[in-house]
Parts: sequence; C-alpha cells; structure tokens
Amino acid sequence: MKKITMIALATLVAAPMILMADMDRCVSCHGVDFEKQALGVSKIVKNMSELEIKASLDGYKRGEGGSLKDLMIQEVNLGVDTDAMAADVYSESRTPGFEEPSDEFIFQKRLSVRTLHKLKNNIKKADAKKDMSKIISQIKSAAFTMYTYDDLLKTKINFKTMSANKTKLNMDDILKKVSSVKSCVDHSFSEDEIVKCRVDFVNLAGSITRDEEKKIKAKSKANKPPLYTGEDAVDMSKYLKTIL
Ligand code: HEC
Repeated sequence: MKKITMIALATLVAAPMILMADMDRCVSCHGVDFEKQALGVSKIVKNMSELEIKASLDGYKRGEGGSLKDLMIQEVNLGVDTDAMAADVYSESRTPGFEEPSDEFIFQKRLSVRTLHKLKNNIKKADAKKDMSKIISQIKSAAFTMYTYDDLLKTKINFKTMSANKTKLNMDDILKKVSSVKSCVDHSFSEDEIVKCRVDFVNLAGSITRDEEKKIKAKSKANKPPLYTGEDAVDMSKYLKTIL
C-alpha cells in the first residue's frame, strides 16, 4: 500500500488500540516475553492461557484486579478490544525475542480489528428483522474497504465464481461468521495469515450480494408486463432487452 493512502486512512483509526507495536510499554514491567512477575505482584503472564489473559484484561476493564490494578486499568483503557489484546499478549509471550511486524501490517491489522469490532457490536444490538438491510450494507462497505486497500487480497478473490448461499443467512448466522473472521484477524501476525481472514469476509459479503441479486431478478421477472401474443402483435423483444 502506498504511503499516501496509509496517511489518509490513519485518520480513520483515531482511537488507540493495543496491538503488537504498542507492546514496548509492557516490557519494562513484564519482561520481553512476559516472563517476569511485574513489580513483584502480577502473575507470570507467560504461564497464563489466552483465555486467562483475556479474563484478567476484562477484569481491569471492569475496574477489578489486585492491589496494583490501577496501573493495568490505565493500560487496558487505552485499548478498546481485549480479544485482540489477549491474542497479541499470548503470541508475544510465546515468541522468543522481540520480532515486530512491519508498520504497514500493524496499521492494516488495526484497521480490520476496529472495523470488525464495531460491526460485531452493531450486529449484537441489531433487530433481526428491521435492521437486516442496514447490517448488510455495513458488511458490504467494510468488505469493499478491505478489498480496496489490500493488494494481496485482490489476487485471492474471484467475484465471478462467488455464489449465493444455499440457505438464507439470518442475523445469528451473520454474527457467527463475522465473529469468526474477527477472531481470525486477532490471531494473525503476518500478511499471509490475515489475508485468509479477509478472503472469508469478502466471500461473506459477496454471497450476501449474490442473494440480493437473485431476489431482484426474481422480482423483476414476476413484474413483467403481460405481453399480447396474438397474430397482429408487435415484436417487442428488442425493446424489452434494453429495459429488463
Ligand atoms: C508499570 C508496570 C506495568 C506496565 C507498564 C504493564 N503492566 Fe501489566 N501488570 C502490572 C502489574 C503490577 C500487574 C498486577 C496488577 C494487579 O494487582 O492486579 C499487571 C497485570 C497484568 C496482567 C494480568 C496478570 C495477572 O496478575 O492476573 C496482564 C495480562 C498484563 N498485566 C498485561 C500487560 C500488557 C499487555 C501491558 C502493556 C500494554 C502491561 N501489562 C503493562 C504492571 C504493569
């Protein structure tokens, strides 16, 4: 991606979110691989599972923790998403040394995490009947943005072979799919990993679009004006071709 588009897009990601590049701060108390007991009181995070890390972080978000919880409450409140943060901390603690992904990757990941996090929340709040078209258009526009700014993704998507879903998706199905893409992105630490999640997401948007196309076609078929086919009928086919 070009520098210019990155700078333009950076303004979209105003809210900070803890991702790998921001781990620098944690090192001073927790050690490079989260192998230390921070300030002599924390658990050794390297020995915690990802779920335990997430539970701790969610606790700090709610204002709960040990005697020095205030320090961590401050850290967690900088980030909006404990799923992504727990995945990052877990990966960091299991990867020896300090290998940072490129700024561009971090930026891209941050953008996707943020978009999917918001989308998930919107779907959870949505009314299954009334808000379906709103959610669908949010999914389509998020997929479009992902597609536009990711050149690797473009090489992996073929719109022509994309087909409609066999069964109609309801709001729960959509939430499940979006959640699984979100978790896939949280656990991606390279371009090759994250592109797979994005392919899934664009496929979801594509199949929803195909569903809609099918509906529109069926509707326009049903609304065809009755044609007079008697002996003196005028051949309308060439006009109909242009309007149907
Ligand atoms: C100033 C020192 C300091 C910094 C910086 C810091 N932490 Fe902590 N961390 C602590 C302390 C102290 C605790 C235990 C707090 C308590 O009493 O609950 C803790 C607890 C934790 C825990 C839960 C472990 C447990 O005991 O349940 C996690 C996970 C964690 N920190 C992750 C991070 C991450 C990720 C960062 C960087 C974004 C970070 N910390 C930055 C000091 C720090």
